[in-house]
Amino acid sequence: MAGVDDALALPRVSAEFVHALVLGTGARRVVEIGTSYGYSGLWIAWALAQNDGSLITIDNEPRKSDAARANFAEAGLSKYVDVRTGKAAEILPSLKGPIDFVLNDADKENCRLYVELLLKKLADRAVVVTDNIDSHAEELAGFMAWIRRHDSFFSTPVPVGSGMELSVKRAVR
Ligand SMILES: C[S@@+](CC[C@H](N)C(=O)[O-])C[C@H]1O[C@@H](n2cnc3c(N)ncnc32)[C@H](O)[C@@H]1O
Repeated sequence: MAGVDDALALPRVSAEFVHALVLGTGARRVVEIGTSYGYSGLWIAWALAQNDGSLITIDNEPRKSDAARANFAEAGLSKYVDVRTGKAAEILPSLKGPIDFVLNDADKENCRLYVELLLKKLADRAVVVTDNIDSHAEELAGFMAWIRRHDSFFSTPVPVGSGMELSVKRAVR
């Protein structure tokens, strides 16, 4: 379903990159903002099956959440995934920390708000990956300037797929 018109799924190379990051960091508590049909979620859940972790993934379209649930089940990955349906800005405040990894891939105008809502719940060295910084450069310019200047993050652009911002929460020392 990654090819369906409204899937807006990560390109495969970006999904592989995210999979490698989750595996490599050993992340166990992962949040995805923007489930769609579960394409990126499958790559994350596959890594979490190896990390003994779990994913909370959020989308505001019930039809997409249902399809994603079916896709996770078909892949045998349901036990690693909790699909939540609703507006990210309403669900994120209810999540418990610490969170090790975030894929920030829903509505681009709220990318900053979502990081702000999760900031206090992020573990030291948590990784936040925000998609579309090249394809939506104008829309995400404010977000990029903000996060690259933020005291709590080291943040750098990665030229993979549609462009991804890789932001690591600095450890408190
Ligand atoms: C770019 S797609 C996600 C693609 C997915 N990460 C993948 O690679 O398969 C963005 C998704 O965010 C959802 N979305 C948009 N605004 C949202 C909001 N305010 N709260 C939750 N989900 C939202 C859309 O329904 C859409 O499915």
